[in-house]
Amino acid sequence: MTKCSHRPNLHLSPSVGWLNDPNGLICHEGQWHAFYQHDPHQTGHGTMHWGHAVSDDLVHWQHQPVALYPDKLGACWSGSAIATPEGEVKLFYTAHRKAPDGRDDENQCLVNVDQTFTVFERDDGNPVLTNNGETVFRDPKVVWHAQSGRWIMVLTTGQAVSFYCSSDLHDWRFESSFGLGQGHHDEAPWECPDLVEIEIEDGGTAWVLIVGIAHGSYSGGSGTQYFIGDFDGHTFTNANPPETVFWMDFGRDFYAAQTFFNSGKRPVSVAWASNWRYALLTPTLDYRHAFSLPRSLSLRRTAHGLRLSQTVPDMVRTAFPVAERQPSGPAAGTYRLRFEEAETAGEWSLYLFGEDVPQLELRRQDGQPALHVHRDEKWASEIAPLFASTFSVCLPEEVFDLEIYVDRGLVELSACNGLVWITMQHFPENPEGEVRLVRRTVEVLAVAE
Ligand code: FRU
Repeated sequence: MTKCSHRPNLHLSPSVGWLNDPNGLICHEGQWHAFYQHDPHQTGHGTMHWGHAVSDDLVHWQHQPVALYPDKLGACWSGSAIATPEGEVKLFYTAHRKAPDGRDDENQCLVNVDQTFTVFERDDGNPVLTNNGETVFRDPKVVWHAQSGRWIMVLTTGQAVSFYCSSDLHDWRFESSFGLGQGHHDEAPWECPDLVEIEIEDGGTAWVLIVGIAHGSYSGGSGTQYFIGDFDGHTFTNANPPETVFWMDFGRDFYAAQTFFNSGKRPVSVAWASNWRYALLTPTLDYRHAFSLPRSLSLRRTAHGLRLSQTVPDMVRTAFPVAERQPSGPAAGTYRLRFEEAETAGEWSLYLFGEDVPQLELRRQDGQPALHVHRDEKWASEIAPLFASTFSVCLPEEVFDLEIYVDRGLVELSACNGLVWITMQHFPENPEGEVRLVRRTVEVLAVAE
């Protein structure tokens, strides 16, 4: 196995070094700018910089010079981007350093960006929001709240998020916090929040609060949950009972999801396709990690209430060649498989990369379908036990469609028209190996090599 052969073709990965969270996502003057947590000097999580890439179509990314370097206030941890009504672009990030007593010292900083996105000037007033004693005080996501005509900064404060408001982007006033007794908690802090107003498919909008949880997610380790409700400029109100837990993705490799500023009421999001439980141990050589595919978010009314639906934008979807019944072969390990509702009936196993253990199996109990997700057992010792253990996801609909994006080992599965997602990294011997769908009756339906 050549260790670089897993680099995805149609996902953003750093040309060298380390990548984690998406930062400063913004659509500006028709271009998509993505910044990311980056260590250009090593493939581990060292002193964080912000990497930068730009794209016209969310598929082909041009790497740009490193945008933010650490300074005396600290390393550049996660944050966001905005454009003012006058077209000025600003970045917000957490300056992270260790205090003399060894504790984390985290403060929020502002960066002014020129129109070519090549000059990044730190604001003289930094830090614009100083830590008032919280042990975790990071990952500022700044959004425009039209109804109150103010900027809102949501950031993580332990196992909760806090909302601050400002009219000039410099003076920030605390409004409220949300999280205690709400959704899913573990011992790790909540991280990388996002707050966004999203269109309901049959009319209207609702506010969605997205938040990462570093350990203890649905399938283990890092995962991303969301809340649906209302934000009135001061407080977020959960529309569901506080114990309700919604996962954006049930897989092991979908963390710190963020939406692009200026991407509308069906905003485009991306996440880090990895997991803190083994992120430092995955076997790539010259770079580590990639973003997930972009997904456009909407809210769907289901029998159980509103749920987030995630759809890959057409320009990204069509960039993946379809490998269906009689394909000439997945292009260099990068392809898309689509199964219509009739094709997902019964019970079956899906084998990717020419491997002899299936990555996915569909089993039914009392008609209720459940997807069983596997990764090669050998990785339990070579990467980490969590990398290899199996988990299951029950689907909310008995009859469902399935779409699977495969990009040299990075596999993203969408079921029930985007209501259920499962993102998983694999490191196969042969990322270009064949695809086989085997029915429980051992009938071979799809072969692509
Ligand atoms: C989430 C996170 C953030 C932090 C960044 C540091 O993955 O821990 O909370 O800002 O990574 O790289």
